[in-house]
Amino acid sequence: MQIIIYTNAQQVAESAALWVKELIKKKPAPVLGLATGNTPISLYKQLVEQHKSNSLSFKNVTTFNLDEYHHIDSTNPQSYRSFMNKNLFNHVDIDVNNTFLPSCAAGENPRVQGLAYEEKIKQQGGIDLQILGIGANGHIGFNEPTSSLSSRTRIKTLTQQTISDNSRLFKPDEKQPTMAMTMGIATIMDARYVLLMATGANKANAVKEMITGGVSAMCPASALQMHENAIILLDKAAASELSDQSYYQWADNENRKLIEDYGYFHNY
Ligand code: PGA
Repeated sequence: MQIIIYTNAQQVAESAALWVKELIKKKPAPVLGLATGNTPISLYKQLVEQHKSNSLSFKNVTTFNLDEYHHIDSTNPQSYRSFMNKNLFNHVDIDVNNTFLPSCAAGENPRVQGLAYEEKIKQQGGIDLQILGIGANGHIGFNEPTSSLSSRTRIKTLTQQTISDNSRLFKPDEKQPTMAMTMGIATIMDARYVLLMATGANKANAVKEMITGGVSAMCPASALQMHENAIILLDKAAASELSDQSYYQWADNENRKLIEDYGYFHNY
């Protein structure tokens, strides 16, 4: 794991945007894995700004989102499709036909949809860079604690903690879904690079478990300890429970020199 600690959340977003930009510049037809939630909004803002000011083009980019609520219409403002349209897709030159979410609308079979999503990712040659947030309970995507570390895209029941963490986003008269389709942990592990963003003190405990706890289905993000190219971008608050911060900072300084000499990615 490459752990990078920034002073604030804005710097985390700027750094994440740089990784995405490098990938887009480097690969002729990059495949990006995307996440929803509060944390990546600032990343998407950066990308939209760079599209507008520096003409960062998304024309050849294909995207796969981590998750989508079960039985929610894509036009529903609470759908993750709507979130992505609002925060990124509507503001850049991406071909919306190349943007995919693991949707399962009413009448569709979640098992069939899950398999089809896996197949689609394969057809596109796999995910080059997967953006991730982390839940306060250590989830990645909607892989809640106890999710199999070998899981693939499927339907999951959300935990009470996730439902209550996300309830702030629903108005009192809106029905909050309790199930979601999500990429599995093995799906995420197949991405060539993963870039996890975590900001705020409410993530500090999950971040500590992910980095220094044992690999366990009780903290799904801990599976990233087994990933060859996992980059963890933290602000000070999210890193506050890590005891080895000076080592991570020193290693980051060394890595910056490597990046200057050899670029961000190994295998492109
Ligand atoms: P958040 O969600 O970015 O809204 O904190 C992260 C997650 O639940 O994965």
